[in-house]
Amino acid sequence: MGELVIEHVSPNEAPLSLLLLADPSERQLKSYLHRGIIYIAKCLERVIGVYVLLETRPNTMEIMNIAVSEKEQGKGIGKQLLQHAIITAKEQNMHTLEIGTGNSSVSQLALYQKCGFRIFSIDFDYFSKHYEEEIMENGIVCRDMIRLTMDL
Ligand code: COA
Repeated sequence: MGELVIEHVSPNEAPLSLLLLADPSERQLKSYLHRGIIYIAKCLERVIGVYVLLETRPNTMEIMNIAVSEKEQGKGIGKQLLQHAIITAKEQNMHTLEIGTGNSSVSQLALYQKCGFRIFSIDFDYFSKHYEEEIMENGIVCRDMIRLTMDL
């Protein structure tokens, strides 16, 4: 694999199909995308990863979306994007970085904890309430949002 380059892009340049891997609701995605700080990961000029940071409260950012193209998953790119997001949030003088995922997203929960995030709350029925289509992963219905946090 070639060298991975992570670079900042504007909301107009955001790779929508990749972002929709992490957030199946285009409506939800569009509600935060224009306010977000977007970084893409490129390998040999091909976009293979993306993440979106949003300042949600004073000194607090949330990773609203993170995705790696299906063929490139499981090769450590997600971890590199998370490490990049942690450094970026620190550089913006944030004190806290948060990320949320569904109760059914078993590998994401593993990855985020391996990167240093800790579970701090559960938004019960978040997905049941806010998403029209039922989401199933790993044979589990995705109903609740598990929220994780990191002190920077
Ligand atoms: N138990 C323990 N660890 C697990 C695991 C499990 N069941 N499943 C995955 N992991 C770990 C791997 O071991 C690896 O950690 P390691 O490097 O310490 O071995 C890590 O999780 C995977 O890391 P990586 O290869 O960097 O992830 P990735 O490049 O596949 O990116 C996602 C991760 C989630 C961004 C990517 O899979 C993706 O785009 N998924 C679809 C979109 C999505 O769900 N986004 C998140 C929405 S909340």
